[in-house]
Amino acid sequence: MDHDVKPVERVHVDLGQRSYEICIGPNLLNTIAIHLQGVLKRDRIFILSDDTVWSLYGEQLQHQFSSQTIRPIAKVMPAGENTKSWPSLESCLEWLLDEQATRDDVLLAFGGGVIGDLAGLTAALLKRGMRLVQMPTTLLAQVDSSVGGKTAINTRQGKNLVGAFYQPDLVLADLDLLKTLPERQIRAGYAEILKYGLINDPAFLDWLSREGSAVLALDPEPLSHAVAVSCRAKASIVAQDEQEGGVRALLNLGHTFGHALEHMNGYGPQLLHGEAVGTGMALALKYSARLGLMSQDQAQQGCALIRAAGLQSDVSKLSGGPYSANALTDAMRQDKKVRANNLPLILAKGLGNAFIYPQADLADVEAFLHDQLNKIVPQS
Ligand code: NAD
Ligand code: GLY
Repeated sequence: MDHDVKPVERVHVDLGQRSYEICIGPNLLNTIAIHLQGVLKRDRIFILSDDTVWSLYGEQLQHQFSSQTIRPIAKVMPAGENTKSWPSLESCLEWLLDEQATRDDVLLAFGGGVIGDLAGLTAALLKRGMRLVQMPTTLLAQVDSSVGGKTAINTRQGKNLVGAFYQPDLVLADLDLLKTLPERQIRAGYAEILKYGLINDPAFLDWLSREGSAVLALDPEPLSHAVAVSCRAKASIVAQDEQEGGVRALLNLGHTFGHALEHMNGYGPQLLHGEAVGTGMALALKYSARLGLMSQDQAQQGCALIRAAGLQSDVSKLSGGPYSANALTDAMRQDKKVRANNLPLILAKGLGNAFIYPQADLADVEAFLHDQLNKIVPQS
């Protein structure tokens, strides 16, 4: 085993008895047995992964355990969003039951957000809760989905409709694993990094405007800083509001518009979640300017940051679709929080100053989307 434990940034998620650490750094895969010492109670570990990640790193991971006489027991699912399904959940639970897994056993989620969400829900349900370690392998999963305890599968009625809040015991974000991640996935993950700046951290936004290209190029120091700041921002919000009764909704900046855009693509590969969030954030900024909450100049500055990451700030040019204002608004109307013709939206009073706007008028949102899609107002 490689004993070269390189410096790791640690972020604490403060949730009382359910508190845990996020370790961020290089070479965590090659030192995983050391990092798991406090969590593993048995001489075996269950691993859930997808076939892409497993073909790249499965052997290396298994070797780390077997060389420490820890028996790895792995289940590999097809890569892709379709794996977040009822049949996958059933097959994961049956697998663990057949292996006589107990609540003391650890399930390691080794993949992107799809594997993290499925493994999290599986761990929550197995005998009412087994131990869970997240080892996220995409940038999006490292800065968002592996932290905070949201787990879910999709059903024919929609995305993430069956799930649980279930916190992991540990998160290990190995930055080296991102080297094999396709560039498009890196940009999609970067949208969530930008989101934290736009929510409440103008200084981080300034930093990203200078260092964003280095982050996207996976330059180790800026990358580590960006992932750590993002995890710290999410940890702070989750610690205040674990189950989204209030402030956690800020993490949905760009997501109400974004989910509607994803919905129109059947959540397919034409539009990645992070790409939809990038354009969704541009729409939230522009809608904020339309309501006079921020200046058009500020909205344009925010859109420039989105474009600088190679994301689309102009919905009329977004890939996938076709998109119509009417269908997008209909998709937003399905949101659980709609009352009459009003919907809470995350908007902003400036860059780095997001807030919960309690009652957006969906008729006005539809008119706004119509203008944006038909280029009736100046685009950015
Ligand atoms: P993903 O898990 O589908 O991964 C994207 C692709 O990258 C997959 O094809 C995967 O096989 C591949 N991949 C993963 N790691 C790789 C690596 N290191 N090298 C090469 N290829 C690699 O997608 P994602 O973007 O990570 O996550 C999206 C999912 O996360 C969605 O289902 C979304 O709903 C969910 N999500 C959950 C939360 C939450 O809080 N729980 C937050 C945001 C998103
Ligand atoms: N991704 C939003 C949240 O975790 O609340």
